[in-house]
This record gives sequence, structure tokens and C-alpha cells, in this order.
Amino acid sequence: MSKVITLHEFIMDRQEDFPFASGELSRLLNDIAIAAKIVSKDVRRAGLLENFLGAEGNTNIQGEEQQKLDVIADKQFINMFKTGGEVCGIASEENDDFMAFDNEISREGKYVVLFDPLDGSSNIDVNVSIGSIFSVYRRKSESGTLANLEDMLQKGTDQVAAGYVLYGSSTMLVYTTGNGVNGFTLDPFIGEFCLSHPDMKMPETGRIYAMNEGNINICEDGIKEYIQTYCQQTLEGHKRPYSGRYIGSLVADFHRNLIKGGIYIYPDTSTDPEGKLRLLYECNPLAFIAEQAGGIATTGRKRVMEIVPDRLHQRVPFFVGSKKMVEEAMSCLK
Ligand code: AHG
Ligand code: MN
Ligand code: MN
Repeated sequence: MSKVITLHEFIMDRQEDFPFASGELSRLLNDIAIAAKIVSKDVRRAGLLENFLGAEGNTNIQGEEQQKLDVIADKQFINMFKTGGEVCGIASEENDDFMAFDNEISREGKYVVLFDPLDGSSNIDVNVSIGSIFSVYRRKSESGTLANLEDMLQKGTDQVAAGYVLYGSSTMLVYTTGNGVNGFTLDPFIGEFCLSHPDMKMPETGRIYAMNEGNINICEDGIKEYIQTYCQQTLEGHKRPYSGRYIGSLVADFHRNLIKGGIYIYPDTSTDPEGKLRLLYECNPLAFIAEQAGGIATTGRKRVMEIVPDRLHQRVPFFVGSKKMVEEAMSCLK
């Protein structure tokens, strides 16, 4: 029987890999794992608990209806970051503005975290996989001061760590600090994330495409051309088409493609001219993981991680997955 390696042990062993290693990033990753366990416990029992399913009754700044679990997860992560001492401020998809933590230990924190506390909210009430996504940067502002907007608006290439938690048939935490990608499965019996997917690599190509094809008629012609030419069966049935798989939880669609090979597309449309997905909370962290696993992430035209953000809730078109498949899709865009 091989030795079980817990996430905690793994992080401690890898500490010297971290840029500017001094233990804080390790502690921060451990804090994220604890928050993830708490959220996982809530997700697993949501149908049994009062006030866990359904809509909260508010819309967030992006005009989307907040679910109760969106708010519960958001509070859990914020509370962990606020009390951990490694983080001076955060920005979350669910809050209008970023938060600068105004307490003595947090003001000294080296990092900011940008996150989507609950991804795939439309799947919460129907017991389909959902997730959390996070992205960690070193602060730009001086230690001891309050975090500011400049700390939040950094390019994806400046990320020091990124990851996601998938509340699927099991709960998994997948993360990178720029030295490859590793995946950990939560063993519910011992309450620990254990290394289950070491050094994850995204196959160079695959046969799965994920897109909300309900939007096909409001996409540019190149997208239609890509789907028809590469993904769909022809009338003659000559070529082997790809299989369409769309969960509607980005984390879950991404995770499947990371393991099996595939492409995920959320292009801009005439109704969402900038696309739907959020650069800072969703696209950059997944782009970092994709690239670290050998895949790519683009807007269809340029590398996602090189975009200089100009606002917190900025959206971008997103093409992510197996290298060859994303390149094929890009070749169809003029
Ligand atoms: P969130 O639940 O955090 O708002 O994100 C939803 C995102 C993403 O998870 C998913 O892939 C996509 O929106 C689904 O959008 P459509 O329903 O438009 O397909
Ligand atoms: Mn999301
Ligand atoms: Mn969300």
C-alpha cells in the first residue's frame, strides 16, 4: 500500500518551490483548504438544511441572482482570509467592491486573493457539481497599509498560486504555484485532502467540446464555423465528431477536460459583447492551471493571462483546454 500524502504535508514539502518562500503562502493554502472543507460540508448537506437551497433574494453587482449558498460560501472564505493574517484584502465575484482588511495582522499580510466562492450556482438546487475558484497575488501596496485597487488589478501572469475546489462526486482541490498542477481528493472519513492526482497534464488534444450552444446564433460566424467543421457530425457521417458535454459549472467542465482532454468555449455574443466569464475570479486562475498542465487559455485571439485588467468585474471571452483544440478554434476566428 502506498503512503498517503495529505495536502498539508505536500504543501510543507514543497515550501521551497514557492516564490519568496517564507511560509505565508503555505499557511494561506492551508487556510483555503480548511475553508473548502467547511463549504464542502455545507454543500453535501444543503438539501437537509434550512436556508441553504434557493435564491437569497438579492442580485449581485453583475445583475445575477445570488443563491443562498453563494453567500454562505463567500462568508466562509472571507472569514478565513480575514482572520488568517496572510491576506491584506480580497475581491469576490459576489461583492460590489474589493475589501481591505483593516486589522493589525491583516494589514501586514503579503497577499490578496480574488475568488469565485461558488461557481455553477444554477446547479446548486439540482444536485449537480459546483465549485470554488481562487487566485492569489502578492500585494503591490506597502505592507502595513490598506490593500488598494492596484493590488487587485494585476495581470494573470503575476499570479503566485491559483486553484479550484470541485464539489463533485467527490470533493477535490486542484492547485498550482507555478510548478505544475496537483490534485487532492477529500477523504471524508479522515477529513483530509489527500494527493490523488499528482502532476496533472492536460492531453494535447481530445474529443470533448463544451459550449452553451443555445448561444450559437448570437456568436460571430467563426464560432459557428468551428463547431460545424470540427465538433459536429456531418450529414454523410464521414468524420468522427467530438462529443458535446456541457455541465454549466465552469469548474466541472474544466476539470473533466483537464483529465480527458477537451475544449471549453464561452465566446462573446451579441448580447454579452465581452463574454460572460469573469477575468479575475474565473478565467485567470483556470488559465494558470491550464497552462501549467500543458493546455492553453485565450480570448480566442490573445492569451488570457496577459490582459491588463481595468476593473474588478471585467468579463472576457474564454477558450480553454487542450492545446491543439484551442488552436483549431482560434484558427476559425478572423
Ligand atoms: P457563477 O455560478 O459563478 O455565476 O458562474 C456561472 C458560469 C460558469 O460556471 C458556467 O460555465 C457558465 O456561467 C454558465 O453560463 P450559461 O448558463 O450562460 O451557459
Ligand atoms: Mn463562476
Ligand atoms: Mn459564482
